[in-house]
Amino acid sequence: MTATSSVPEPGALLVGVDGALHGRTGGYQKRLGEMAGVYRDAAAYRRALDEHGAGQVVYHVEEHRNSGDEGALIIGTSILQPGSYGDEFAMTRGHLHRKADRAELYHCLSGRGVMLLETLDGRSRALPITPGAAVHVPGHWVHRSINVGDEPLVTLFCYPADAGQDYELIADAGGMAQLVVRDEDGWTTRPNPDHTGYRGQQR
Ligand SMILES: [Fe+2]
Repeated sequence: MTATSSVPEPGALLVGVDGALHGRTGGYQKRLGEMAGVYRDAAAYRRALDEHGAGQVVYHVEEHRNSGDEGALIIGTSILQPGSYGDEFAMTRGHLHRKADRAELYHCLSGRGVMLLETLDGRSRALPITPGAAVHVPGHWVHRSINVGDEPLVTLFCYPADAGQDYELIADAGGMAQLVVRDEDGWTTRPNPDHTGYRGQQR
């Protein structure tokens, strides 16, 4: 007879368009003071700190996980507040999965955003995310979400529990290769002059 006591219970979740996750097992908040170096316009970032304080929550994540094992999933919601820093929009720090081949699904529940995706060898994609849209992020793509609207950008995500996140990769590269910036049509992308190439792939 096989042991079943270590098999997790199924998760029964309720997901609100505001990102509320009934059935959550945890989560975290990211505060403005933790975003140093993320935005190119350091003066604009400092002004935001002066105005809102380092403790202002800029995004938060609600999660359901029942195992960290290979093959298990982490399911959750991400709620990214709107804002702007110079001509850049509020965004997440972004990462590559520590196990870089691990993929991820994002499904937009509310708000208006962009998923910025880059490979280490120079491919780049900026995909609009509006309610109903989903992005399948393959392994080996650096990814970050950006709120280009005036309301919170809420996504439902799902990724392998053993994926992990490498947050230093982007900082070490001087930022992602592309910037998502405000323009007369809403937003556009522009090469980031500070980007030095990703680790192991310096140009
Ligand atoms: Fe991810």
